[in-house]
This record gives sequence, structure tokens and C-alpha cells, in this order.
Amino acid sequence: MNAAFFTLHSGLPREAPGDEESLAWALARAGTPQDARILDAGCGPGADLKTLARLRPQATLTGVELHAPFVERVRAEQPGVRCVLGDMTSPPDGPYELIWSAGAAYGPGVRAALTAWARQLAPGGRVAFSDCLWRTERRSAAARDFWARDYPSMGDVHTHHTTVKAAGYRVLDARWLSDAAWEAYYGPLAARARALRADADEALTAVLDETDAEINLWRQHGDEFGYYLIVAEPAG
Ligand SMILES: C[S@@+](CC[C@H](N)C(=O)[O-])C[C@H]1O[C@@H](n2cnc3c(N)ncnc32)[C@H](O)[C@@H]1O
Repeated sequence: MNAAFFTLHSGLPREAPGDEESLAWALARAGTPQDARILDAGCGPGADLKTLARLRPQATLTGVELHAPFVERVRAEQPGVRCVLGDMTSPPDGPYELIWSAGAAYGPGVRAALTAWARQLAPGGRVAFSDCLWRTERRSAAARDFWARDYPSMGDVHTHHTTVKAAGYRVLDARWLSDAAWEAYYGPLAARARALRADADEALTAVLDETDAEINLWRQHGDEFGYYLIVAEPAG
């Protein structure tokens, strides 16, 4: 992350679309026990770890994250969580009944992440993760340009299910995240961008402009792409 990007993104509650409703759905569809061991892979600043602590107060929670300031923040705000600085493809030792990941598996790549996670799942353990996918064949130039820069290998539902199967998993259920889940990310991001605008230097202004363009893209063309949440288990 460059300095201007981090100025904008430090202090935000979350770094990808997501909300309690979709996380509760995933826990229910995965049959995650009350006292489960749960890993949040690419936990960012820890929003989902807080929600997991509310939804599964008896669970043992671990986060793994590459970006050190996020790890420090989780450790400071959530002393009951083990948060490890590291790569989700070498996850902290489990085993886990659930490996959760919101909008982060694209970092190492979905297949690499799923392959690594399988080695840390408890018997009967499951994964639940979201990834951004194309929703339609009709794709505006603006959306194509943005995602070609941000996530060039972004797939669609068909290619995504093929990847999950090739990684050795069976999909138990899947759904799109709601607009409310996008607002949970973009709402605070847009407010922070507005607050920083007046005193922004050139580098930060460029980051704020890119962020406004990204949020406007979703508002205008958000029917063309979305975050798809899959619950899956090793196929055995
Ligand atoms: C889009 S953000 C989502 C963060 C968080 N899940 C949330 O919803 O707020 C993706 C996060 O994954 C982290 N990340 C990317 N690749 C990773 C990897 N290989 N191992 C661990 N974390 C990774 C990034 O540093 C970033 O914090």
C-alpha cells in the first residue's frame, strides 16, 4: 500500500463488501458449531472477527493478514483474537472447523488459497469465502477498464465453480452479497474520502479521485459485477 492509499484506508471498519447478515448465513450454511475454531484469512482491520465474536462467542478466533498495520489494529482492539502476520497460503496452525475469507482470496489466487486451506481444516471442516465476479455478459467499458486494472483474472460464476471444484472442493451453497454489504464498505470509505479532500496533497488527491470513480462505477454499473459468497467442503 502506498502512503496516500494507507492514509485513506487506515481506520476504516472494513476493506471489502460484507456484513453480519451474510456472515450469519455462511455460518448457518456451513453448520459451524458454537465452539468452533475459526480462521479469518486476509482479515484486514478485523470487522468480521468482531462479528464472529458476537455470533459465535464460544469460538476460538484466529486472523491471518499480510499488512502489518491491520494486524496491529486487530491485536489492539480484539485481545481475545490470535492475529498472525503472514500469508494465508501458509495459514497459522489449525485445525479449523471454518476458514472464512471476505474478498481476500484473490490476493494469492482462489485456487492457491483453497489448496492451502484444505490442509488446515478439521474433519468435517468447511470454507466460506467471497470473491468478486462478473454477473452479466453485458459489460460496460468503464467496468471492463476498472477490473482489467484491479482484478484482471476476475471470472464469472461458471469459471469460479470450476476453480473451486478443481481445487478439490464441493460447493454446498452460494449467493451474491447484497447492496447493504457493499454500502458497509463504500459508505465509510466515501465519508473518509470527503473528509480528507480539502487538505489533500497531489498524491492523496489522485487516490481520492480513483476512489470516487470506483464508488461511482458501482453505483452506475453494480449490476454487472458482485461479490459471490461460496460455502464449500473438501470433496473427500
Ligand atoms: C480487500 S481486503 C479485505 C479485508 C477483510 N477481509 C475485510 O473484509 O475487511 C483483502 C485483504 O487481504 C489481505 N491479503 C491479500 N493477500 C493476502 C495473503 N496472501 N495472505 C494474507 N492476507 C492477504 C490484504 O492485505 C487485505 O487486507
